[in-house]
Amino acid sequence: MHRPAARTLPLLALAGALVATGAAAPPSAAPPPAKVPVAVGYGGAVASVDADASAAGIAVLRSGGNAVDAAVATAAALGVTEPYSAGIGGGGYFVHYDAASRRVQTIDGRETAPATATAGLFQENGLPIPFEEGQTSGLGVGVPGTPATWKSALDAWGTRPLRELLEPAEKLARKGFTVDATFRAQTAANEARFRDFPATSKLFLPGGALPVVGSTFKNPDLAATYAELGRKGTGALYRGPIAEDIVRTVRKPPVDPAATRKVRPGDLTAADLRAYETKRQAPTRIGYRGLDVYSMAPSSSGGTTVGEALNILERTDLGALSETQYLHRFIEASRISFADRGRWVGDPAAEDVPTRELLSQRFADARACLISPDRALTSPLAPGDPRNPAPCATTGQAAPTTYEGENTTHLTVADRWGNVVSYTLTIESTGGSAITVPRRGFLLNNELTDFSFAPAAPGVPDPNLPGPGKRPRSSMSPTIVLEDGRPVLAVGSPGGATIITTVLQTLTGHVDRGLPLVDAIAAPRASQRNQTTTELEPGLWNSPLRAELEAIGHGFRQNPEIGAATGVQRLPDGRWLAAAETSRRGGGSAMVVHPRGTP
Ligand code: GLY
Repeated sequence: MHRPAARTLPLLALAGALVATGAAAPPSAAPPPAKVPVAVGYGGAVASVDADASAAGIAVLRSGGNAVDAAVATAAALGVTEPYSAGIGGGGYFVHYDAASRRVQTIDGRETAPATATAGLFQENGLPIPFEEGQTSGLGVGVPGTPATWKSALDAWGTRPLRELLEPAEKLARKGFTVDATFRAQTAANEARFRDFPATSKLFLPGGALPVVGSTFKNPDLAATYAELGRKGTGALYRGPIAEDIVRTVRKPPVDPAATRKVRPGDLTAADLRAYETKRQAPTRIGYRGLDVYSMAPSSSGGTTVGEALNILERTDLGALSETQYLHRFIEASRISFADRGRWVGDPAAEDVPTRELLSQRFADARACLISPDRALTSPLAPGDPRNPAPCATTGQAAPTTYEGENTTHLTVADRWGNVVSYTLTIESTGGSAITVPRRGFLLNNELTDFSFAPAAPGVPDPNLPGPGKRPRSSMSPTIVLEDGRPVLAVGSPGGATIITTVLQTLTGHVDRGLPLVDAIAAPRASQRNQTTTELEPGLWNSPLRAELEAIGHGFRQNPEIGAATGVQRLPDGRWLAAAETSRRGGGSAMVVHPRGTP
């Protein structure tokens, strides 16, 4: 492995970032805990998009729970306060560093397709159906993996019973949380869909209207569901009355009779739910600048795609480049690795996925050969062949990147013993399928729309077509970075396929460009996914860098907001730093157990 001089990770925040000064409060309806994007201290750290959720995790750490316990409590609280991004109706990927064994392990809690699914799941008369008809439907609902993920994580590494860890979230659902502008805006964006499902509109449009900013939002049905899972275990979601309700809802979505929307049923069965299992495959690992970067293996494309891009970038000293050349290299590495992801990555239980080869430095070097300092590549770019890498060679036909929604949520936790969790979870679109399970208080996912509805290009093999029991390809990239076998950094983000570029940009911003973690997260983002144009946030769109990149052939379009990352970092003095967004999605929430010694 090529190893240029290892870099010292930059430490604390630059001016402008707020720093936590107070201890986390237990969850309550009012006032919510203060939301700050960076916190430094001892005893462990939590970073999530939501202050009530981070506080739930901190409360667990403070009472002696470990990072896995806190991650489950935080995730459960996110199911209450971020119900349009994640919840027990969805799935996700859990990456864990175990301080005792010094190992990184993962849980694949991805949703699965019904046993009857075929490659034509989203086709009619041989043609793909409109995306919206897959999204707002029973057809797009996969078997939820989130409750089983919590069980797998707690069975393997937890120290607290699920019932205890669900209590803060249950209380939050029962007593309510304070509605903020992001929650109202996300509800507004879904209003038309939500109105078509009485159970959804009753819950999320209280009194028939959008929730008012500053009001208290309660979800007693979800509180009761959490209480039932606490009493009976997460198996209660996979067999018994809750499972029966899920199956009934998917097979005959409870639509308002006045709705004009075509809502397709799904073919999920009780047997599909009973058969669900998480997977414990090995993480991806690559070496980068003397660090070991671990992430999620397929069925997520996160680990292989971020890993390949880092391997491509490792041959260049990104820290020594101009900002323009850094962005150029970052965009090109993203473009190339997305071309390879599209051709080679799908669910390894159903497809022959060359995970090891995609992560080889030899393959990365063969692909890096395509990058020129003064001329941008054009997309769609054809993939390379990881099993037969040859410099600058491509294989087969180029295919565009298929659509993925831009939602999801990520949380990052570290504890006093040095255990770390990086966990990304989702219900796919913002608002998922828009279908609430009546009287249960949670939305069902539309994760199966992460499958390609049809081959990405005619005649090009597509490893991401639906199949029986198959997991749709994800972009989730929960990442943990080790130095000399100990965690120094963990990051992740929501954002559909932009997750990959967000994690890549955050890692290179921090490791190579010397940005403190909170500033690497806040930096304006670009996202290239083997598409003709690269998306730019306003901070880059409105900067002179755009013209400089256009002069070497890049094309751009605007995206107002890409991703919503969180991370933790271990400082050399043993303190933990938690970092979150300064403004995206209304800003994130970083907390530590003992916020002492802040700069
Ligand atoms: N649904 C978003 C992802 O899996 O990447």
